[in-house]
Amino acid sequence: MISKKNTRRKILIILFAAILLVLTAFTVSLMAPQEDLKSKYSYKDFEPAAKCRSCHPGLYEQWSQAMMSQAYTHHWDEIEYFDLAVAHAKAKPELKDAVDGCNGCHTPLAFMGGGKFPPPRPSEKSMANESVSCEVCHLIQSAQTDPPFNFSYLIKPGMTKYAGRTPEIESPAHKIVQNDFFRTTEFCGNCHNEKNPFGMWVKSTQLEWKEGPYAKEGVRCQDCHMPKAGYQYAIMGKPHDDARLHLFHGAHDPGKVRGTIELRIQPDIREAEPGETVVFTVALFNQKTGHKFPTGSVEDRIAWLNVEATDAKGKVYHLDVDKKGFEGEEYTISGDNLAYQDMGVPLGIPDFKGVQRDGIPSGNRIFRMPYFDPEGRMTIMQWNTAKLGVDYRIGPREVKMEKFTFRMPFDIAPGELKVKAQLNYQLLVKPVADLLKVPEEESRIIAVNDHTTFLTVLP
Ligand code: HEC
Ligand code: HEC
Ligand code: HEC
Ligand code: HEC
Ligand code: HEC
Repeated sequence: MISKKNTRRKILIILFAAILLVLTAFTVSLMAPQEDLKSKYSYKDFEPAAKCRSCHPGLYEQWSQAMMSQAYTHHWDEIEYFDLAVAHAKAKPELKDAVDGCNGCHTPLAFMGGGKFPPPRPSEKSMANESVSCEVCHLIQSAQTDPPFNFSYLIKPGMTKYAGRTPEIESPAHKIVQNDFFRTTEFCGNCHNEKNPFGMWVKSTQLEWKEGPYAKEGVRCQDCHMPKAGYQYAIMGKPHDDARLHLFHGAHDPGKVRGTIELRIQPDIREAEPGETVVFTVALFNQKTGHKFPTGSVEDRIAWLNVEATDAKGKVYHLDVDKKGFEGEEYTISGDNLAYQDMGVPLGIPDFKGVQRDGIPSGNRIFRMPYFDPEGRMTIMQWNTAKLGVDYRIGPREVKMEKFTFRMPFDIAPGELKVKAQLNYQLLVKPVADLLKVPEEESRIIAVNDHTTFLTVLP
């Protein structure tokens, strides 16, 4: 009897202790500060992508054509990091942490294991050149913050890799642990959301997605950037009918950008006399992106609408967009303005007057969100952004309407008037690209879409 009672009491005590232990562990884990991965490991803890290539050649070749394989080595990344960011931190030491942090997303292996800031230049062919490699993504276990941002991933190096699916065939090279985190957008948000030292969201692709229509429908980053296909992703594996291709195609793939926005233009009347006024309406429909367009490096990017009329004799008239009158609209209409004066500090140009803000024909509507430095001037240095301006980008499935009021000149040729609306896109505003000698491909014009309408000019 007694001994039975004792055992029960013992069990109760053990049970109670166990609950207490679990509870404390839980609170401690909640209170645990974000694990700082900066210089926590060394390069020898990580495997190069070339090793994964030997058994996953197809995925490797796909990834090697995507920007994430060049996040540290790409020319514009090297120029902005070394000539602007690192130079800026030399002039302003309080920026050092933020500038070291560039590597947390652009070359996580160097951030965690290189032990040197800045890491060696790409030409020195160090392991920093791995950029966002296989190893980086397949060691990620979770996000340490909610929402995820600023390289909030939790990574432990080792032979255990993580993946979204459960393996059917054992890999001779590594262990696999299935982890649903790979099927979330938070996985990507670890690097595709960024808050700068001023507390500004200078990158918010995953947050934009979350408040848009695709989140509600469960269409995630992976569905548009890693589409499913019948594919054999390991040489000794077998074909899978739902393999995730590692295309990661985005703004540097003109084919991905083309057709993103559909546009239609129509006049309010089909016949007009010289001197008469015609109003053209353009509808722009974001049919393709799961986030805003443009997204990501918003400080660099512009999309603009150019409308031109050509009369029967071939004379071309440029149409200026009608003003809507919202706050900050001046930043969404191209003109003759100087900007980006804050680059003078890292470039060592005293009293730098800046360069042209837009570098495109004036009077065009620009779809962008301007970033402002602490002195209120427009900047492309996202780490020096103290304020964000009007957000005039095109949201997922959003339609923007623009009007163009055109007074027919008295000398316009009678006959058919052709009016073309064209939406163009640029990764980096051209005057900045020219100043910093960024290769032309970063500022070439990508035609997103166009549409043409007609009316008759009466004699
Ligand atoms: C010696 C060959 C070999 C090497 C090297 C190798 N893998 Fe694999 N891996 C495999 C095989 C085999 C599979 C299983 C394929 C299958 O199920 O069809 C696999 C599967 C995977 C999976 C998916 C797991 C799943 O559930 O199907 C991931 C992720 C992965 N490997 C990542 C890597 C990474 C990252 C590297 C480089 C650090 C790497 N692999 C190097 C052979 C290899
Ligand atoms: C419905 C499809 C769709 C979904 C969902 C989607 N994207 Fe995109 N994404 C696109 C298209 C189309 C483009 C090309 C146009 C452009 O540059 O915005 C693009 C472009 C991008 C770019 C390049 C943008 C630039 O201007 O440099 C990044 C980065 C990106 N996506 C990341 C993501 C991330 C991260 C998610 C999930 C949070 C996501 N995408 C979800 C369709 C999608
Ligand atoms: C930007 C992050 C990222 C990078 C870089 C990356 N992967 Fe993946 N990989 C993923 C995600 C996410 C999935 C799983 C998607 C899912 O399950 O929905 C995946 C899936 C896989 C799979 C399983 C295939 C499948 O259909 O699920 C293999 C194998 C794999 N990756 C290998 C590699 C190799 C090899 C490299 C380098 C050449 C690489 N990955 C680079 C994110 C990445
Ligand atoms: C470890 C950080 C990291 C993670 C995780 C990550 N990315 Fe990226 N991604 C980057 C960086 C850095 C770039 C910029 C590359 C460059 O310098 O142009 C980028 C660029 C891209 C681009 C733009 C390509 C282009 O053509 O301009 C796409 C698309 C993209 N990532 C998709 C994804 C998706 C989808 C996921 C999740 C499955 C993901 N990324 C996860 C860091 C990351
Ligand atoms: C939180 C992660 C993160 C941090 C921190 C970060 N970046 Fe990026 N960076 C990205 C992602 C993601 C992209 C791709 C966005 C897109 O495609 O539009 C990108 C794009 C870029 C690009 C444009 C690449 C191109 O070819 O268009 C440059 C240049 C760049 N980053 C430089 C820097 C510098 C310099 C710093 C530090 C001051 C920095 N980044 C900090 C994630 C980050």
